[in-house]
Amino acid sequence: MESVQKTITYLKTLLRNYQYQYYVINEPEIPDVEYDRLMETLRKLETENPNLLTQDSPTQCVGGASLSGIFKQVNHKIPMLSLDTVSDENGYLAFHQRLKKRLNLSRDITLCCELKLDGLAVSLLYINGSLVRASTRGDGLIGEDITANIRTIGIIPKYLIGNNIPAYLEVRGEVFMSHSGFKKINQAAYRDGNKIFSNPRNAASGSLRNLDPCITAKRPLTFMCYGLGFFKGRSMPCSHIACLQYFKAWGLPVSDYTRLCYSSEEVIKFYHNTEINRPFFGFDIDGIVIKVDDLELQRKIGSSAHAPRWAVAFKFLAQEAITRLNNVEFQVGRTGVITPVAQLEPIRIAGVLVSRATLHNMYEIDRLGLKIGDNVVIRRAGDVIPQIISVVKSNINSNLVLKSITVPKKCPGCGSEIKFISGEAATRCTGGLSCPAQRKSAIRHFTSRKALNINGIGKTIIDQLVDKGYINNPADLFMLTIDQLTSLEGIGQKSAQNIIDALSISKKTTFTRFIYALGISKIGLVTAENLASHFVTLNSLLSADLNTLSSVRGIGRAAAHYLKEFLNDVNNREIIRVLVVEVGIYW
Ligand code: IVH
Repeated sequence: MESVQKTITYLKTLLRNYQYQYYVINEPEIPDVEYDRLMETLRKLETENPNLLTQDSPTQCVGGASLSGIFKQVNHKIPMLSLDTVSDENGYLAFHQRLKKRLNLSRDITLCCELKLDGLAVSLLYINGSLVRASTRGDGLIGEDITANIRTIGIIPKYLIGNNIPAYLEVRGEVFMSHSGFKKINQAAYRDGNKIFSNPRNAASGSLRNLDPCITAKRPLTFMCYGLGFFKGRSMPCSHIACLQYFKAWGLPVSDYTRLCYSSEEVIKFYHNTEINRPFFGFDIDGIVIKVDDLELQRKIGSSAHAPRWAVAFKFLAQEAITRLNNVEFQVGRTGVITPVAQLEPIRIAGVLVSRATLHNMYEIDRLGLKIGDNVVIRRAGDVIPQIISVVKSNINSNLVLKSITVPKKCPGCGSEIKFISGEAATRCTGGLSCPAQRKSAIRHFTSRKALNINGIGKTIIDQLVDKGYINNPADLFMLTIDQLTSLEGIGQKSAQNIIDALSISKKTTFTRFIYALGISKIGLVTAENLASHFVTLNSLLSADLNTLSSVRGIGRAAAHYLKEFLNDVNNREIIRVLVVEVGIYW
């Protein structure tokens, strides 16, 4: 019992500290998953030991005291509550059952299903249709007056339009930031040496609770309404969805995705569909919110001090988790760019085991202040390659010795010199096609669908062919013999013949595909097309000078530079000659 008491006290202190970081100073140190996990542990211990539950427990309060003294305080006439959450179908079904039991209804209940937006709750007060005050949720009873900042958000109307607007109307909703807006401000922040935000919600919150509205005005914030607060002077409809429709008619932004559901099956279907659509919204959602639609029934069911009993957040699996950075490996790409790749202590995120994450470039290591042995926050969103979002500063394993990450001086693929290209924040191997790492990926690119589209030669075959020394460049592919091919693992007589036939067919191509297939840095299919229609013949492309190359549509200075460097290289010129003269590629 004593040890349970100790654990509870420890968790309360920890969670209060995290709540302060999250709600008050807007610098969360741990990801939401970890916070939720700790909160759940505390809640479970308190349920099992009700005598140890106190009113000041983080499980009992919203947790967002104001940055006292900085913003003016606002008292919420109706408390701005939080939401209880469920994270699986059973949890949701239990909520649904509780609702039915509480209401003692024989018919099914109409439920309004919405996106759970991942931003910051705000309350907007319109008096006679004019926006007079906006505030944050704060601790649910007292929030901060952020009117000046809210007025800079273009999508929030300063005056409502239309008829039958209550003289006093409080609308509640979420301020958030889109993925593209988030990317833009973080790029600018990095360029200007300012604070980088760890996620869009953090960016929205930091932008909104900024003391200078001119700064807020520059941040790409957006807003959507999700509920009615206090109102006076006119009646409002008696269903939640009808209120949202009124808001829309008055010029307030409302999500078009909201749906009414009439059974638990429909709600679960809505949940799964939303999860599928999640990567395409362009902004973060962390689940759906299900609300009893009938406002009279909502009143009947009531709320606890913490959350309404008529609504629940059905959360998606977390996209973030904490794990340890075990090492950083440097990989050489097709065009020689060297990319750091994080090797992680394997961890399951949203059902998928993650053991590697991209680090983009050397700047990223610097920006994150990353060291081997650090605990890091990993994010895996949809099909996007997992990324390291931040380093967990609190040193949980304080006895661990952290190791600095050293950028190699020579290419890990071939030992050639490495060049740093400042304009691109990239590091590049100078070995060209003599670098085996580039050789394999250059040949792979040459055979790919949009290039020469050579069927039957995949990564494993190319790797074997290069490792056995049968091919060193794309032209060598056309000299392969049946015997060489059948000596590879898994290639029989028939497949070998198919490959030879596919190679033969691929010789008839287009000038665009040929240019693209050479795999020159920054020359994609569209630029290859522009080059092909500008130069028409291979000879005129080969003899073009830098100025002529940069005058071609879509070719910037960097692309022209790479093109010129590639075409001037004797090895590359020889490969092009063999491909056209000896192999007989034509268009
Ligand atoms: S309703 C009394 N609807 O989630 C009901 N909240 O975890 C209170 N949120 O503070 C909120 N999307 O910031 C509601 N469609 C939605 C929401 C939503 C996001 C946020 C809101 C709230 C938090 C609770």
